Order: sequence, then C-alpha cells, then structure tokens
Amino acid sequence: MLPQTITEFAHAKINLALHVTGQRDDGYHLLDSLVVFAGIGDGLRATRAEALGLTIDGPFAADVPAGEDNLVLRAARLAAGDMGVALHLTKRLPAASGIGGGSADAAAAIRAVLRLRMMAGTIAPMSAEDSAQIAALGADVPVCLASHPARMRGIGEQLDWLAPLPEVHVVLANPGIEVPTPAVFRALAQKDNAPLPDALPQWRNAADLAEWLKDQRNDLEAPARQLAPQIGQVIAALSGLPNALFARMSGSGATCFALFAKEDYALDAAEALRADHPDWWVAAGMVYPGRADMAQLIRAT
Ligand code: C5P
Repeated sequence: MLPQTITEFAHAKINLALHVTGQRDDGYHLLDSLVVFAGIGDGLRATRAEALGLTIDGPFAADVPAGEDNLVLRAARLAAGDMGVALHLTKRLPAASGIGGGSADAAAAIRAVLRLRMMAGTIAPMSAEDSAQIAALGADVPVCLASHPARMRGIGEQLDWLAPLPEVHVVLANPGIEVPTPAVFRALAQKDNAPLPDALPQWRNAADLAEWLKDQRNDLEAPARQLAPQIGQVIAALSGLPNALFARMSGSGATCFALFAKEDYALDAAEALRADHPDWWVAAGMVYPGRADMAQLIRAT
C-alpha cells in the first residue's frame, strides 16, 4: 500500500531587502523584496483521516490559535477537496515575527495535502479562483509554496525566481516580542520609496551579497523599531557577532538576521548570542541556494 503520511518542512522566510514602493487602493502595500529561505523551520505532517483536523506541539505551540481560523486548517481546507486529513504542526518558529511562520505553515499544508491527493489519485486541476483564495490566505503564501529564492513584487503575487545563490548561512534572533504586521504598515511614514535596482547582480560569494545589501533597505525597520525599540538592540548584537557580514530586520519584525560565509561561523555566533541573551530565540541555518532550472524557467518565459 502507498504511504498515507506526508511530511513537509515549513522553511523560515527571510526578507534580505524589503522596499515599500507604493500602496494599492485597498490599503495593501506594494513591495519589492529579495526573499530567501533558511534550513530552519516548522514541521508539518499530514495523514489521511476521516475528517480534517489539526494538532500542534513544539516550543511555540501555545502562541498559535488551534481553532478553525488557523491558517494551516484554512489552507488544507482549500486543497483537500473532500479528503479527510489529520495535520500535525511542530511549531519551532516564533509567531508574528517577520519570518513568514503562518504563511510557511499554510504553504506546507497545501503541499502536503496535494501530495496526499496525488497519491490517492484524486487531484483536480486548480482553478484561478483556488489560486486567488490561496494567495488571500497571506501575502507571503505564494512565495512560501515554492520556498525558493525570489524577487517578490506586487503584494507578493509577482515572483521572479533567482539564479542560485552563493553559499550563505544565517543566524536569526527574536527578542520574544510579537509585532503585528498591520500596525507596522500603519506606522510607516513614507509609502512610495524607490524599488530595488532593475537588474540584480550575480553575487559571487556571501561577502559580495552582504556588500550589495548594504545599499538596499528594509523600509519596515524604522516603523517596527518605533513600536518595539528592542529591535535596535537585536540588530546591534547581531552586527557585533564575530564574522557577521551584515545584519537587518526581516519582514515586519521583530526577527532579525545576520549573514555568514561559513556554517561554523554561524553556529559559533549563535552559541555566543544565546550565552549573552538566554531569553532570546536564536537559530542558525543555511540559506537554501535554489535551483538553476527554476531561474531558467523564468528566462524562458
Ligand atoms: O498578508 P498578511 O497576513 O501577511 O498581512 C497582514 C496585514 O499586513 C494585512 O492585513 C495588511 O494590513 C498588511 N499588509 C500590507 N501590505 C502587504 C502585506 C500586508 O499592508 N503587502
């Protein structure tokens, strides 16, 4: 018999740069963002069952609403058709923290349920309406579905896959505060900043990428720091770590990241940061470089 359980990894999303370039009539902000994914994330297991259901464990389980509104359940409901699926989420990423936790979980649930349906032979082509409903779950869900390095424009629906990145490692740090995304966007003073450069370079190594990033911005950093001044402390601590090439806030915060050229540098730096700030959430991992065939796909279209 075919296996009836699927496991998926919900990778943390990192906005290496995030420029807010405008605002739509419905209030959503237009972005131009460089998005990558880390080998750090939540776990999702999906098993065929009588009905749709969700259980949650892991260090941040208590911060996730387990009811019908849960993003994972809403996502699975869209993808499952009439198939029953028991989902189990292991929540390792802090909630509402700028690294896409909810969107990554929703995307992992969609991938897992579609794989179950594929095995059961009940997969149906997805309609434009299905895709729109999936995108409406959260602005980061489309990019998290592929979990591939991307330039993300519009409100998250316009994606260009990047050519493979050089080897880069990250340390993520969160001071234990939730920063609500809508409040950060509301506190944003200027909503029509310059986009990223038209053409992105082919970075040769982590240091080259870090140098390029210094000329880019996260436009949400200033408003997020107004709401949560501790973010400044996190960026200073990350910047001061040995071998750190560059540090910045991701998404709407409060999680910040530092980039490193080697795995050992990131692991040692994470250990040092944990020792100095035992109450912070700190994680180290590699940045997923992406696949050459994804970039070729874009060039061909
Ligand atoms: O889509 P997501 O759930 O991440 O967005 C949360 C809120 O952040 C939205 O309801 C909206 O107020 C704000 N937002 C925005 N522009 C975006 C993404 C989010 O204004 N591109």
